Amino acid sequence: MISEAELKELSFPDAPRMVTQVPGPRVKALMEESAKYEAFTRGGADFPVILEHGKGSTAKDADGNLYIDMAAGVAVNAVGRGHPKVLEAIRRQSGAIMHTTDITNPKRIELAKKVSEVMPEGLRGNCHTSFFQAGSDAVETAIKFARRHTGRSQIIAFQGAYHGVWCGTSALTTGYNYRHGWGPLIAGVTHAPYAYCYRCAFNMTYPACNMQCAKYIDYILNTPYTGMDDVAAVIVESEQGEGGYVAPPPEFFQIIKQACEKNGCLYVADEVQSGAGRTGKMWCVEYSGVVPDILTWGKGMGGDLPMAGITYRADMEKSLSPGSQPSTFAGNALSCEVCMTNIDLITDPETDLLGRAVSLGAEVKDRLTQAMSSVKCIGEVRGRGLMVGCEVVADRETKEPLEGAKVGEIAMRLLNSGVLMTPCGRHGNVFRFMPPLTIPRDYALKATDIMIDILRDY
Ligand SMILES: Cc1ncc(COP(=O)(O)O)c(C=O)c1O
Repeated sequence: MISEAELKELSFPDAPRMVTQVPGPRVKALMEESAKYEAFTRGGADFPVILEHGKGSTAKDADGNLYIDMAAGVAVNAVGRGHPKVLEAIRRQSGAIMHTTDITNPKRIELAKKVSEVMPEGLRGNCHTSFFQAGSDAVETAIKFARRHTGRSQIIAFQGAYHGVWCGTSALTTGYNYRHGWGPLIAGVTHAPYAYCYRCAFNMTYPACNMQCAKYIDYILNTPYTGMDDVAAVIVESEQGEGGYVAPPPEFFQIIKQACEKNGCLYVADEVQSGAGRTGKMWCVEYSGVVPDILTWGKGMGGDLPMAGITYRADMEKSLSPGSQPSTFAGNALSCEVCMTNIDLITDPETDLLGRAVSLGAEVKDRLTQAMSSVKCIGEVRGRGLMVGCEVVADRETKEPLEGAKVGEIAMRLLNSGVLMTPCGRHGNVFRFMPPLTIPRDYALKATDIMIDILRDY
């Protein structure tokens, strides 16, 4: 396993270190300039941090405030920012060739092979990959390929899902802001309850529930008169991301997969946020042993450079037609080289970043769970590996979410204490711990302790 000293080298020392209130004068000025020229539809338009320098698991804003990065650019910087091997890859490849348009290039072929090698067993060595830049592109394509392959049109997604916000993916995503006013969204999408056991849609308790939510999918797919007679695919986040870092029991996925097989529709694992080693396995779906027909990926696979893709069962190739899903920037050779470097770093058995994600994630979760005896607003701590969610509530008995103003106050106090962390969830009340997998242990635990101290006041 990689040593803490080596990991420390990858980040700025002595984080966190604050020199101004957040936002400081330079960030404030930049936010005003951004509001003048950029679209305010961008994510986090009022987020009071604008980063200027990043190193490993630390980053400095434009005023020089140094943060511990518990956000990793929303689960993107899996190996941290500016990893020396990534910088070396950029230097190496940028001198050769970068853009080749959608005609392929040697780096892209090499990456498709490497992606195949790290797919979950069953898909491994038996798949093809289509490259894009964003997770939304990948999921859009999954909808199209599933429809084309099955000759069917309906899609089942889940309550709390986030799959992107393009024209097709907005229909799968459930957040009001991403759906409202953009309609009509694509037809034929049904949302079923996700295994959000803390707030069970059926008001049941695991395991006595007998996985009612997963069985409901089997019921609607395989029972006459449910209206689900033309389903092309069921798309499932292997740990729900924006919906609140919700990690279902493995049976949830297994029962859904069996229901898909019985029905003849495809199982799409959306691993855009939960993949690339985040949960301690290369793909979170591997915890359940389910073999997806299609796996969508992005975020941590590209890291410092944009890269996303869809990897699908090899036999699906025969139902697709040549040249029917082109994309100008797809498979940029520079992004491919960086993606391969990231995969190598994440899966290296010597450094064992995957094993470390499991043990460090467990340590973070333990600290938060132990704090529950004295911190009354922590409702639940959950998640796999370094994809940990801490749901805050006003009342532990009723599970009433902590009110938005207080969550906002906590988020600001975290920033002012030098911890980069953003809330998510259906009620916006889940703080998510998604640092780079390379975060030094003492930084991860320091950020957790800062969080616990702040939560004591609520
Ligand atoms: C599970 C999941 N799918 C798809 C997407 C969309 O990815 P992108 O923002 O790169 O388009 C996201 C983004 O957060 C995601 O979490």
